[in-house]
Amino acid sequence: MFTPTPERLMYEGKAKQVYATDNPAEIVIHYKDDATAFNGVKKASIADKGVINARISAFFMDRVAAAGVPTAFLRQLGPRDQLCQKVEIIPVELVVRNVVAGSLAKRLGMQEGFRLQRPLLEHFYKSDALNDPQINEEGAVLLGFAQAWELAAMREYSLVVNDVLRAFWDGLGVELVDFKLEFGRVGGRVVLADEITPDGSRLWERATGRKLDKDVVRRDLGDLGDTYRELYRRVFGESLA
Ligand SMILES: Nc1ncnc2c1ncn2[C@@H]1O[C@H](COP(=O)(O)OP(=O)(O)O)[C@@H](O)[C@H]1O
Ligand SMILES: [Mg+2]
Repeated sequence: MFTPTPERLMYEGKAKQVYATDNPAEIVIHYKDDATAFNGVKKASIADKGVINARISAFFMDRVAAAGVPTAFLRQLGPRDQLCQKVEIIPVELVVRNVVAGSLAKRLGMQEGFRLQRPLLEHFYKSDALNDPQINEEGAVLLGFAQAWELAAMREYSLVVNDVLRAFWDGLGVELVDFKLEFGRVGGRVVLADEITPDGSRLWERATGRKLDKDVVRRDLGDLGDTYRELYRRVFGESLA
């Protein structure tokens, strides 16, 4: 098991910490219980969230890898710790949308819930200071954030991830509304990095429309800890020990 020590801490983000390992090509990602919404404006600590997200992310990373998407994830070292390839994060976040919700609904003055004919991919410049502003592909290339072939790979992989996740959640009676992905560069190729978790997804219970994601916190709809524990039960068929 990996013991995170302060000397090895490379970066502390909103939901995770990144630690150096003895191998310069690998890092450990440690999942915290901290929850943020509105880009860090709303904060809370949710018991076991880190454990839940780590296990769900590992589970989905393995599934998308099996579907042909290269990922930085290597293996789970402990309940909150993942060994990953160290990549250079591409500062363009990809959001895949199946249903209109969240910032898209707000931006266009639309009601949430419009089902898109096919997935809509949106690009955002990864910058906490600027609140991750939206950018188009041409802008991302011309401003030097990513190369055109990298964006093409990111888009292609995102659609595969969408197919895998959507089918999986569908089987649990949950609609995958949208989710965010980050990619990185390593050894001259593009790989899926960071996480695939409920934190970065919007999930609606199909039968009731009940929100099973961070909108619970954003809109004060209930207890996010209970929601995450319920997602965990549905995904793994067992309660969190
Ligand atoms: N495989 C990886 N190699 C290097 N950096 C990574 C990798 N996976 C994720 N990261 C970065 O590690 C950080 C994870 O911490 P997180 O709490 O999610 O940060 P943030 O507050 O920026 O969302 C993010 O900056 C993410 O881009
Ligand atoms: Mg993050």
